[in-house]
Amino acid sequence: MAELTQLQTLLDRSAELDAADALAAFRSRFHIPTVDGRPALYFCGNSLGLQPKGTHDEVLQELADWQRLGVEGHFHAQSPWFSAHRTVTNAMARVVGALPHEVVMMNSLTVNLHLMLVSFYRPTAERFRILLAGHEFPSDRYALETHVRSMGLDPTETLLELHPHPGSHTLTTEQILAAIDDVGTSLALVMFSGVHYYTGQYFNIPAITQAAHRVGAVAGFDLAHAAGNVNLHLHDWGVDFAVWCTYKYLNAGPGGVGGTFVHERHGNNADLPRYGGWWGNAEATRFTMDHAFVPTAGADGWQLSNAPILPLAALRASLAVFDEAGMDAIGTKREALTSYLVDVLDAVLTGVGGVHIITPRNAAERGAQISLSFDHDGKAVFDALRLRGVVADWRTPSVIRLAPAPLYNTFADVAALGKQLHAVVAKEVS
Ligand SMILES: Cc1ncc(COP(=O)(O)O)c(C=O)c1O
Repeated sequence: MAELTQLQTLLDRSAELDAADALAAFRSRFHIPTVDGRPALYFCGNSLGLQPKGTHDEVLQELADWQRLGVEGHFHAQSPWFSAHRTVTNAMARVVGALPHEVVMMNSLTVNLHLMLVSFYRPTAERFRILLAGHEFPSDRYALETHVRSMGLDPTETLLELHPHPGSHTLTTEQILAAIDDVGTSLALVMFSGVHYYTGQYFNIPAITQAAHRVGAVAGFDLAHAAGNVNLHLHDWGVDFAVWCTYKYLNAGPGGVGGTFVHERHGNNADLPRYGGWWGNAEATRFTMDHAFVPTAGADGWQLSNAPILPLAALRASLAVFDEAGMDAIGTKREALTSYLVDVLDAVLTGVGGVHIITPRNAAERGAQISLSFDHDGKAVFDALRLRGVVADWRTPSVIRLAPAPLYNTFADVAALGKQLHAVVAKEVS
């Protein structure tokens, strides 16, 4: 383990890094939770992002409008409820690199994934396979498996999970592209995450999309850990569809409204099969109560129900912060913050056996998360860190995920985490 003086020199650098941080002022825009009366060392923005201070007033405004206006709020609220979903599309589109009509905020991630599968997974006898990363987030796996089953197909023949080479924790881009080529004409859909929830690996979305298209397959992405985290260009990359949640890096609150991207080359295709609902029907005839479904243009045409006003208000408040900060500045700080965290972890773990960073060391291949894998004693380390005010998360079987979020985490947070981890591993790792 590193000598404290050597480690201290590295930890002391945090002051100069914070002083040079262009986003430093943004921390004051968030409520920082406390542990035992002191601000938490919060490294869990990949699970639940913190509350922007603007959220309170934005949500209360909706409650006030409801109180004051009742049903009239649909047209006379400060943000009229009838078109509330559109109040967030421009800002959300900027975050994911889309055109506004390619984005709609609705439902939740897993629901949206099923809706996208209805439209974009159209298996035939020859082309029916789905390629995904191994050890993917369970909800995606469940969605794919049950969806495939509901179409009368056998998931064991349909779902192809790609695992890292022995001894490695992450997939290489070459490996993914080769797998796509191998499956070739039987591949219907490549369904990958943008950033893998367990390892923090940021996959090469444009290369995967191009490879999928080359063999005639559709490319869809789960951006739960990518939206608001890494710089995305979904439109330019030609991604077919994507889904994400907003309660992680997007700070829109627990159970926040989900997001969906449908590339414009599909958005106006009324012939695409889809599950319909009245809010996806053309606005002009939405209230005529006709019985013929005419989808509205763009991603909005995939809506089912009237929009969730309170979650949308929370998202609006959060996206205002993203608009001010900009994804470029967030990306620059993310790289600096995670690189500093890797240096600190390396120093703390020098000479400590059985603990490995499994996230790519190349900053361009990761999001704002570093995953530490333990051969043993990991849960004890995690529990001890929690008692010392570190809020991170434990993912079975063996990983502590540490996510420094550029909008509110500081380099001093990382240094303080390093100090606590140094104390804990001395006791807990045998
Ligand atoms: C990668 C990934 N996919 C899917 C989900 C499920 O999201 P939801 O509960 O919003 O459907 C999560 C939730 O954490 C996730 O991390």
